[in-house]
Amino acid sequence: MAKIKNKKPLAATIDIVPKDSSDPWVYSPIIKDHFFHPRNLVLKAEDVKNYDGLGMIGSPACGDMMKVWIKVDKKTDKIKKMKWQTFGCGSAISATSMLSVMVSEKGGLPIDDALKIKAQDITERLGGLPVRKIHCSVLGDKALRSAINNYFHKSGQKHRIIEESKRIIDKVARVTDHDIEEAVLEGARTLEEVQKKTKVGIGNPSVLPEVEQLIRFYSEKYFG
Ligand code: FES
Repeated sequence: MAKIKNKKPLAATIDIVPKDSSDPWVYSPIIKDHFFHPRNLVLKAEDVKNYDGLGMIGSPACGDMMKVWIKVDKKTDKIKKMKWQTFGCGSAISATSMLSVMVSEKGGLPIDDALKIKAQDITERLGGLPVRKIHCSVLGDKALRSAINNYFHKSGQKHRIIEESKRIIDKVARVTDHDIEEAVLEGARTLEEVQKKTKVGIGNPSVLPEVEQLIRFYSEKYFG
C-alpha cells in the first residue's frame, strides 16, 4: 500500500471554490462555458467510427455512466482525439469536456502524461469545482484510463495495461479499498462518515487503523 508522508488533519481538506467567490456552490464561468458548449461530445454514431480505444465506467456514487473514445497517433504515442458521452450531471459534463481538451490540445498529450492527469488538474483548469462534485470529474478521468487500457489491449501492448485491482480491507463487511475511495469521493472525510456509507470496521475493529490511513491517502490524492 502507498505510504503517506504528511499526515495532515482531515479537517484541513477544503472546498475548491472559484477564486472570486467564497460560496462553494458558485460555478466558475469556465464550468458554465463547458456545460453549455461541451467540447468533443459524441452526438451521433459516426462521431466515433474508427477509434482506437473505448472506456466505459459507472459511478457507484450516483449511478451515472461515462463512455470515452480515444484516437491515438501510433508513431508519437500521443492522444489525438478524445470523444465522450455521459448520463452524468452538469459538473461531469464540464469536467469531461475540459479533460477532452487537455488530452488533445497542442498536438495531443503523450499517453504516459494523460495517465498522470488527476481530478485536481481538471478542477484547476475549470477554475474550481465544489468538493461534493469532485467525483464527477473523476468519472471522465477513470473512463479515459479504461479507454487507454483498451487501446493497449487492442494494439498488442498488454505489458502497458494498468490493472485497477481491488483489495479487500474488511472481510466481515466485504469492503474494498475502492469502496473507501468512492466514499471519500462522495464527500466522507472522517472515519465515522466513511463507516456510515460502507459499514467498514463495525464488526471488525482491527481494520480501523488501515481504514483511517486510506481515508487520508484518498483525501490527499483528490483534494490535495
Ligand atoms: S456525475 Fe453524478 S453527481 Fe455528477
